Amino acid sequence: MEIHDIFVVGAGFMGSGIAQTAIQKGYHVTLNDQRSDALERAKAGIRARLDRLVAKERMTAEEVEACMGRLTISTSLEGAAHAGLAIEAIYEDLEAKKAVFRQLDQICDPSTILASNTSSISLTSLGASTGRPEQVVGMHFFSPVPVMRLLEVVYGLRTSKATLDTAMEVGASLGKRMILAKDKPGFIVNRMLLPMLNEAVQILDEDIGSVEDTDEGMKLGCNHPMGPLELADMVGLDILLEVMETFYADLGDTKYRPAHLLRKMVAAGYTGQKSGMGFYRYENGKKVGVNPVLQK
Ligand code: CAA
Repeated sequence: MEIHDIFVVGAGFMGSGIAQTAIQKGYHVTLNDQRSDALERAKAGIRARLDRLVAKERMTAEEVEACMGRLTISTSLEGAAHAGLAIEAIYEDLEAKKAVFRQLDQICDPSTILASNTSSISLTSLGASTGRPEQVVGMHFFSPVPVMRLLEVVYGLRTSKATLDTAMEVGASLGKRMILAKDKPGFIVNRMLLPMLNEAVQILDEDIGSVEDTDEGMKLGCNHPMGPLELADMVGLDILLEVMETFYADLGDTKYRPAHLLRKMVAAGYTGQKSGMGFYRYENGKKVGVNPVLQK
């Protein structure tokens, strides 16, 4: 099935990254969010990132205008009616995601494929909240979406082969390499990555190492491009906590129990880069030092 129009629900870091990648590859994209300020921020962020590509002589100003011309922002879900593919990229909450899927199912053309960017929630459950479970699929992108090469395609119990094929084709057209995963919390990548980030928080909580040394350990010792605490800040500590809660509840092993310090950080409002404070302190999105409450 050929897709030309993509509808993206959720204008956060992931949703705007998906929208940017898709307009750069020639798709017409409607980016939706309930909050118009979030949409305006996302649009300005996309333009700023594309303008940086012009400065690096990777795009022309005309190409940026053409890309921006393919982007529509909207607070209404009604625009999803004729999209070939709708990708939900809201926060990790089963009931909130089900509500979006139920509405999309009512609004969208019967042929529309409904995808979720979820990193931990069951695609089978999301599919069951619609009248088209065969057309529900996971398209799990990685952050920052325009840069990371991977797309994890996830199949629920009732996802059809035709839907999987279309998700793979769209992924390839977005310049991604695909891996295929069964519907089980965390799929392939986050099942490994997020417990590692949680363990880094645990190490900090047990005073085994400082924030910087925990990160340096993995950067210099294992060649990771970012330290786990820095990466946790980028992912969002609230999201990391939600995902670990899902793992712990669904997989049942105490090795998935969220670190106590992670709960405290989220309770304190330290959700990472997006709030300006996580394990590190950020100014204009740039890391400027360790969160003072964690400094020894
Ligand atoms: N959007 C678009 N492009 C971005 C970007 C963003 N938010 N952030 C950085 N970039 C681009 C830069 O423009 C630069 O591009 P060029 O090389 O083409 O000029 C490139 O990325 C490298 O950026 P920098 O030189 O500024 O910094 P860096 O070399 O340290 O790379 C990084 C930054 C790409 C983020 C790198 O540190 C990295 O790969 N980190 C690991 C990221 C990771 O693990 N992501 C997975 C997170 S888990 C997840 O997403 C799944 C989930 O469900 C939680």
